[in-house]
Amino acid sequence: MTKLFLIKLVFIGAITLSVQAQEKNDSVTYSYVGTKACKKCHIKQYKSWNKTKMSKVYDLLKPGERAEAKKKVGLDPEKDYTKDTECLPCHTTGYGKPGGFVSFEETPELVGVNCEMCHGAGSEYTKDHYMSLKNKEYKLSEVLKVGLISPPTVETCTSLCHNNKSPFFKSFDFATRKDEDTHKHLPSKYNHK
Ligand code: HEC
Ligand code: HEC
Ligand code: HEC
Repeated sequence: MTKLFLIKLVFIGAITLSVQAQEKNDSVTYSYVGTKACKKCHIKQYKSWNKTKMSKVYDLLKPGERAEAKKKVGLDPEKDYTKDTECLPCHTTGYGKPGGFVSFEETPELVGVNCEMCHGAGSEYTKDHYMSLKNKEYKLSEVLKVGLISPPTVETCTSLCHNNKSPFFKSFDFATRKDEDTHKHLPSKYNHK
């Protein structure tokens, strides 16, 4: 092999690698870190979210819960739906996704609709050089690129859960539900432009 040929090979190799890295980046999925990770910096949002029904929707899958409502839509009120793959995507966080809900025993922090269901899986955007106490003035546009959803919109809610794949779906009023079912909202303290 000539020296020039070898150089060409290395060059083509480098291009292939960078193309692969690019493609990987486009389709990258982040993993879930759990509510405790958010709680340490967002204690007020955490406490008020913890009182909403969104934090407790996993319990609805237990036998005997909402028996009348279940009967009305043809579900079995005595059945245990807590391991039912039909129900888990909307009653837990990140079911079937990397680092997402697996079971009550293995991933207790991901039961119910928690922070990362509405705000996106946090493995990357919670790193030091993104959203952190060392970098309080992170650029919103930067963290949005690595998985943060902010602010969640009506589409966030309707595409994930509040749609007619839910046995109980009737209608969805974003304005009211945002106030009642997410958490108390505080104005930001820092600049993120
Ligand atoms: C180490 C601290 C820290 C951790 C951990 C953390 N955050 Fe933050 N977060 C911040 C800071 C600082 C801000 C900016 C607050 C401000 O400007 O008042 C922020 C802002 C936000 C915002 C507002 C973004 C916007 O629109 O400007 C959202 C949403 C958010 N965090 C969600 C989360 C979620 C969900 C988690 C857990 C996966 C999390 N955060 C973990 C420090 C943290
Ligand atoms: C596509 C998402 C989705 C799926 C799948 C889903 N749910 Fe739900 N579920 C919801 C939403 C959203 C609500 C809240 C409805 C509302 O208040 O608008 C809800 C509410 C409920 C309630 C409370 C109903 C009431 O009126 O009190 C029960 C019980 C329930 N779900 C059980 C189940 C069971 C059991 C399954 C699986 C057979 C299931 N869900 C599948 C999204 C879903
Ligand atoms: C059911 C969806 C939902 C869940 C669960 C949720 N949020 Fe939010 N969050 C929102 C929405 C919607 C907004 C934007 C509100 C607005 O635009 O007025 C928001 C805004 C925020 C903000 C910006 C400042 C503020 O107070 O509005 C922070 C920080 C935040 N959320 C953190 C969290 C953390 C931490 C958790 C978990 C303890 C969490 N959120 C759980 C829907 C949710």
